[in-house]
Amino acid sequence: MSDRRRFIAGNWKMNKTIAEAEELVQALLPRVGAVEDVDVVVCPPYLSLQAVVDSARGSAVQVYAQNMHEQDAGAFTGEVSAPMLTEIDVAGVILGHSERRQLCGETDRALQLKVPKALESGLIPILCVGETEEERERGDTERKLRHQVQEGLEKVPKERLHEVVVAYEPIWAIGTGLVATPEQAQDAIAFVRALVQGFDKEAGNRVRILYGGSLKPDNAAELLALPDVDGALVGGASLDAESFATIVETARA
Ligand code: PGA
Repeated sequence: MSDRRRFIAGNWKMNKTIAEAEELVQALLPRVGAVEDVDVVVCPPYLSLQAVVDSARGSAVQVYAQNMHEQDAGAFTGEVSAPMLTEIDVAGVILGHSERRQLCGETDRALQLKVPKALESGLIPILCVGETEEERERGDTERKLRHQVQEGLEKVPKERLHEVVVAYEPIWAIGTGLVATPEQAQDAIAFVRALVQGFDKEAGNRVRILYGGSLKPDNAAELLALPDVDGALVGGASLDAESFATIVETARA
């Protein structure tokens, strides 16, 4: 096993009111609140961030946001900035999730600014990359990943590259119940690692790369055992305390 620390993040997406988020984190804390050997992260919607941060304070659970704007402030109606997140002790942020790229107009150009902005602001970015089904069938998976990784990391100072977490999420596997085969996941993630090594060899060896897309308690062991997979970005299965805790336990094994 590599000496990269395992990382399990739950992406709650647009689920849970504040009351429901409180309930979920209260159910999670007895199960994962004292886990010291794996980074355990939850990513609630903006409105629940403060409540979940307050509930998780003093535990090992870290709270990340699901997106942020690249500017600190300004006329950007409906957006949230890095200083607003750090003010309430949010520790990181998902950037470039495929749902934001596909449904909310997130561009590679904006991500090029968001990733270094997060780091400068004291937030750990989880940069999401991944191909559509059509791109995979056309044989364009590597081309797509190269483009997304290069754009997303281009403006990150070399000495901070290893702090970024990258999530490989094949779009055809997200929320569909279709999971990448271990071979597909390992190949794509090894390719992403080689791309980061292309920026800086040492950073590529150290960077954590997650798998995401229909990861559940029953397929987690197989995916988390792959040599280049350092953890998971979990959607649906993170909405249930028992299944998320089981995935965290699997990562510790
Ligand atoms: P899923 O979502 O686990 O529900 O497929 C993963 C994600 O979008 O991060």
